[in-house]
Amino acid sequence: MSRPISAPRGTRDLLPEDGAAWNHAEAIARDLSHRYAFDRIETPLFERTELFARGLGEASDAVEKEMFRVSGPTASEEERAEWALRPEPTAGIIRAFVEHGMYVRPGPLRVWMLGPMFRYDRPQAGRYRQFTQWDVEVIGDPGPMVDAEVIELGHRYFAELGLTDVVAYLNSIGDATCRPGYRAALVEYLAARQDRLTDDSRRRLRTNPLRVLDDKDLDPEVAAGAPRSVDHLCDACRAHFDTVRGLLDGLGVRYELDHRLVRGLDYYTRTTFEFFVAGRRGQQQALGGGGRYDGLAELLGGRPTPGIGFGIGIDRSVLAAAEQGVEAAVEAPLVAVVSSEAGELGLRLAAAATLRAAGLRVRADGSTRKLGKQLESAAKLGARWAVIIGDDPGTVILRDLDEHTQRELPLSEVAAAIG
Ligand code: HAM
Repeated sequence: MSRPISAPRGTRDLLPEDGAAWNHAEAIARDLSHRYAFDRIETPLFERTELFARGLGEASDAVEKEMFRVSGPTASEEERAEWALRPEPTAGIIRAFVEHGMYVRPGPLRVWMLGPMFRYDRPQAGRYRQFTQWDVEVIGDPGPMVDAEVIELGHRYFAELGLTDVVAYLNSIGDATCRPGYRAALVEYLAARQDRLTDDSRRRLRTNPLRVLDDKDLDPEVAAGAPRSVDHLCDACRAHFDTVRGLLDGLGVRYELDHRLVRGLDYYTRTTFEFFVAGRRGQQQALGGGGRYDGLAELLGGRPTPGIGFGIGIDRSVLAAAEQGVEAAVEAPLVAVVSSEAGELGLRLAAAATLRAAGLRVRADGSTRKLGKQLESAAKLGARWAVIIGDDPGTVILRDLDEHTQRELPLSEVAAAIG
């Protein structure tokens, strides 16, 4: 016997018993995308590595440590570095926006996507090498109303999923006018305390100093005394942030300010936010995150175009829902078509087709087992009803497998009788 093959590290199989919870989590995302008037967009699962290097930043973890390279069988050494699986969707969406000259459309453009992302990270609970995100982006709107609108949308997602206690943590990291001043103040402060930083943070101090603030091992005293971006905002960024907060207050959205929330990707400007279950702020526990990226289109060779969006992790949201004991939405009751006549496969199939056409969820037993065995296995499979076909295909017995009652009726009336 040959050796069985296991799934790649950091990936998970979605098993049939997980399907209902995933369907529920994805259906809410699709439905909210529709209700909030977002249009669907799809971009390739792989793109030029340069897109991510320019968009997310050379020094971001996603690019520096976690790029999942892909190449063809004849690729040269150079070509091997050319393509990568997408670690996130925003850069690809803005690439498409620029490439298709979408500036000219009536805007702002509102798009959504639901699909797999890839980060070659160290796998652990809640952190996978392949994971699924629901992403929304509003492109061409400088805000601040839309900032509050997308944060409220994220909140609504978790509420409709059935999660309780979700908080949006909020910050503003300024823009090209005020960020350089903040960055300089932060570097000066941290450089004077280098001996209290981790090796990683000492390195980041040169490449990406804001990220030192989200080092989970940062000395709490150093963290507490660090300059805060909100104290360095220019007038325009301050007014923008104050308005976003006022709008969120008006909507009754639960948020808390977090001065260390700088996010891991370089494209962010002004508003940044992340969603967590209150009190569960571990590294792998962000349920979603996003923010404004007013400079990204330009970084990718397009005209200056503001944007804002978020990505919600479906894997983590499903896990959180299971932890909170949320019941997945009940799927339609299952109907099993069985037959007392061992050979009548054609009749079973035809009856199943008729019932499905009437909108029912049906599986037909294709075995030659005795009727009693067929009914037994229908119950084990979770069927609520059995439709028993006899000699006359127009008349069937509808058996309630929970109540153990049954009655005879025309096949054409089964859907109405169950509905
Ligand atoms: P992000 O914070 O890198 O943002 O990812 C968003 C969410 O994806 C996280 O909060 C988390 O739930 C999930 N996630 C990220 N990495 C993993 C992983 N390795 N395993 C499981 N889940 C993960 C972005 O990707 C931005 N593109 C969001 C955005 C959209 N900003 C503006 N527009």
